[in-house]
Amino acid sequence: MTAKRDPAVAGDRRGTRRIDPNQDVSAAPGVQPTVTATITPWLGVVLAVILLSGALFGYDQGVVSGALTSIKAEFSLSALLVEVVTSWVTLGALFGALVGGELADRLGRQRAVLIAGVVFTVGSLVEALAPGTVVLVGGRLIVGFGVGIAAVAAPLYAAELAPTALRGRFISAYQLAVAGGIFVAYLVDGWLSQAGAWRWMLGLSAAPGLMLVGVALLAPQSPRWLMRMGRRADAASQMRKIHPGADPGPALDAIAATLAADHGRASWAEVFGTQWRRPLLVGVGLAVFQQITGINAIIYYADQIFQAAGFTTQAAQTTVTTWAVGGVNVAATFIAIAFIDRLGRRKLLLAGLPGMALSLAAVGAAFEFTIGGSAAHPAATSTAGIVTLAALVVFIACFAFSMGPVVWTVINEIFPGHIRGRAVAVATACNWASAFIVSQVFLSLIDVLGNSFTFWLFGAFCALGWIWIFYAVPETKGRSLEQIQQLWKYSGPNHAG
Ligand code: BGC
Repeated sequence: MTAKRDPAVAGDRRGTRRIDPNQDVSAAPGVQPTVTATITPWLGVVLAVILLSGALFGYDQGVVSGALTSIKAEFSLSALLVEVVTSWVTLGALFGALVGGELADRLGRQRAVLIAGVVFTVGSLVEALAPGTVVLVGGRLIVGFGVGIAAVAAPLYAAELAPTALRGRFISAYQLAVAGGIFVAYLVDGWLSQAGAWRWMLGLSAAPGLMLVGVALLAPQSPRWLMRMGRRADAASQMRKIHPGADPGPALDAIAATLAADHGRASWAEVFGTQWRRPLLVGVGLAVFQQITGINAIIYYADQIFQAAGFTTQAAQTTVTTWAVGGVNVAATFIAIAFIDRLGRRKLLLAGLPGMALSLAAVGAAFEFTIGGSAAHPAATSTAGIVTLAALVVFIACFAFSMGPVVWTVINEIFPGHIRGRAVAVATACNWASAFIVSQVFLSLIDVLGNSFTFWLFGAFCALGWIWIFYAVPETKGRSLEQIQQLWKYSGPNHAG
């Protein structure tokens, strides 16, 4: 993976030029490469940190559905406790995300990932060895806490260490690993759930957790974070390590110039203050739209949706969920990796959402006109099954090249350095909170509105998201993090807000 130029340091230091957020600057005159965008061995280590963090997140999202039946049988769980065991990992992640921002700012991005790996490994072992429900729920919370810290620290780390020309790909690699983790979890579910081996299913994730600890111990620190700590010499040595042969001076000068204007680490009041309201709204808005457009309702309840659509045996449901949801999710993320730094973030978002909306409309129509509109009384026909299957494949594919990777990419690149840790934490926590709410209300929505209207509601959120993104989200492709910061200062309301 190589690219010709890296405009990382060609910021408008005087800040007097107006910057058009939707303009493609990657080929602009005066944008000089200073660091070659080649994957050096140390960038490989950075990638390993990102991939392992994403894989933990994804595995954990995917594995619980297959483990539940045997946990329920062993601990005689009530419906309420089944709900708690399933969803409290999301609560843990919500708090982990908020703490993750603090850790990433105070101790550095790489140490925050290291802590996430330790917490996650401990949590997985607690789950696997739990003698009863209380300890199991405690383990779920600890695992969630680790996932939440990693979900903030790892993409932040990716954003700060990736060469500008590859930044979209680096953060999308995180999403690829999330999707890969979900897929592997589905395979493990298919393999171990018959045997009722839930302790293995949950405990297996300690292995990648330990690997994350090992890799994070080796990984370089973020030069941007070191500069913020006033450690220019350390930042220079990390840069030389990551990009051997390149002069780190100009890049560090550009970071220093931006830092000089920022007066140190921001307070919470500044994070929520008017000056950075627009990037905060963009970050939180993207985080919320990613969830309210239905992805996790599909991921968690795919088996039930396929059952209602006519896939009556458990084996058929597992196979179709594994490949049509899990496999397609992984495969289509490669589209984002190929195009995010070429076409840009906006084009992918604006192309993916209509596909998601149309496929949700089709799933709703299949339920309304062919299946009979109720999960409780599946009058399955092969037409409905095939329409639902095809539509969900399109939905997952469109999510996987747009709202999945691009949302995490943009959230991690739009904030200025001094508020980045806290602001990314706020956006990530909003993402988990929305995921939690959607998972809590999805089945009730189906009861109240019926299947069709529930899917159409998600489709309507896709349409709303498209309009909002069109007006509010600027193009960040090809700009260094320092240049992106300038966007918010010099672009008028008709550009990005
Ligand atoms: C989302 C998760 C979702 C996953 C699916 C991520 O970007 O944040 O909530 O489960 O994508 O691949």
